[in-house]
Amino acid sequence: MKAINNIDPETNQKALTVVLLLAVAIVVGNTWLAFRSIDVLVDSENWVQHTLQVINQVERIMSSAKDAETGNRGFLITGEDRYLEPYTDALRQIPAELDVFGKLTSDNQSQQDRLVELRAASGQRLDLLAKGIAEKRKGANVNELQLLVLSGTGKEEMDHLRRIADDMESEERRLLVTRVEDARKNSQRARWTTALASALDLILLVFMFRYLAEEREMRLERERTAAQLATAKMETDAKAAEIHKLNEELEARVRLRTAELETTNRELEAFSYSVSHDLRSPLRTIDGFSLALEEDYADAVDEVGKDYIRRVRTGVQRMGQLIDALLQLSRITRAELVRERFDMREVALSVVAEIKLGMQATSVANGNIAGATPVTFEVDGGPEAFGDPKLIRVALENLFGNAVKFSSKVAAPAVQFGWDDDAESWFVRDNGAGFDMFYASKLFNAFNRLHGDKDFKGSGIGLATVARVVRRHHGKIWADSTVGRGATFWFTLG
Ligand SMILES: Nc1ncnc2c1ncn2[C@@H]1O[C@H](COP(=O)(O)OP(=O)(O)OP(=O)(O)O)[C@@H](O)[C@H]1O
Ligand SMILES: [Mg+2]
Repeated sequence: MKAINNIDPETNQKALTVVLLLAVAIVVGNTWLAFRSIDVLVDSENWVQHTLQVINQVERIMSSAKDAETGNRGFLITGEDRYLEPYTDALRQIPAELDVFGKLTSDNQSQQDRLVELRAASGQRLDLLAKGIAEKRKGANVNELQLLVLSGTGKEEMDHLRRIADDMESEERRLLVTRVEDARKNSQRARWTTALASALDLILLVFMFRYLAEEREMRLERERTAAQLATAKMETDAKAAEIHKLNEELEARVRLRTAELETTNRELEAFSYSVSHDLRSPLRTIDGFSLALEEDYADAVDEVGKDYIRRVRTGVQRMGQLIDALLQLSRITRAELVRERFDMREVALSVVAEIKLGMQATSVANGNIAGATPVTFEVDGGPEAFGDPKLIRVALENLFGNAVKFSSKVAAPAVQFGWDDDAESWFVRDNGAGFDMFYASKLFNAFNRLHGDKDFKGSGIGLATVARVVRRHHGKIWADSTVGRGATFWFTLG
């Protein structure tokens, strides 16, 4: 049923038409066969009737002949005319009856031949009877007449007549046997044919019934499926409309929240910028006056006092650095992002050059002209970058700065910058102190430091700045490391 279901309605309609035409053809064929066998049966029945009629006709002729004979005899014996009545009737009837017989057996040559013979024989017989009557009227002797008409030639003629009639009858009886047998066979055949036709019609009827029932079931199934599909479609449409509405609501909420967040962010940025900025001036006052105190009033305070003044100055400087770092972080967020194509290698080399200069300056300041940490730099830019080179420079300054800082305690510090084809990202690698990967996710939050200030100085703002630069480019940043075996920082630019 399912297989038929898949047939398209048009093909189904065509198949139905073909089946119906076939059924009509079978029914018409069956009816024709039944009619035909009935025709044959009627035909053979007619032949039987016809044969019986012929036999009957022979008997009639013979009966008329006998009537003529009897009448004639009565007259010959009595001489009374009233006995001639059957004779005259027979005389009139016999030719007509012979004609009827002739017509009835016109298709049978042997009967026609016998008819000729019968006509002649009956003619002779009647002639003889007529002669007898004529003789009687003339007053002939009865015995002589009897001798003439009823015995001798007369009897021979009558026997001849009977023989011909017998032959005719036996011919017809022989035909009757064949025709009755034919009729019997035809009747049987008609019965079989009708039974077969009816059986075929019945089978056809059952088949058609089943076919139509299946067809109906299929149509109902199709209607059910169509209804289900329509309902499903309506439900889907309703759900789609609902989802669309929800999406729109969500988008509106996201837009609202984003706008709120942007406003809050801008306010916070403005706040932290102005705080950092405004803190600088009182800090400068403290720095200036503490320096004046240290230089101009050195004699006025004892060693403990001098230590306190030094600590104040160290704290002030540290705070100054913190404010600088915060201001830079704030600037990164506020600065407009201007993307362009640039060579990452160039930026990296310039950062390295600046770091080297800074290291030299520190060594000179410390009186160590040769330089305490001979760092090996290896720079390879990778593909052309697309971003804001100024911001990228700030990020690289921090990453290189960290690499140099956290490898400063190893014997042969080495810093490597380059592009990784597999990771499709840039990286800054060093062979320094490394960090515990457990805290890797915290590194990029401001003020999070994994190393103590005693080992490595810093304010914990650098990586937060780098993360902001990368985020503003819609890129990604991550790190991996093994404690004591260096660290690698990776980034992409979106
Ligand atoms: N190359 C590195 N090797 C090992 N640890 C690192 C490295 N880079 C960063 N870290 C860890 O991540 C922390 C945060 O780094 P970040 O640059 O933000 O701060 P910082 O360098 O300590 O201070 P700042 O950069 O503000 O002067 C560092 O304190 C350090 O513990
Ligand atoms: Mg740093």
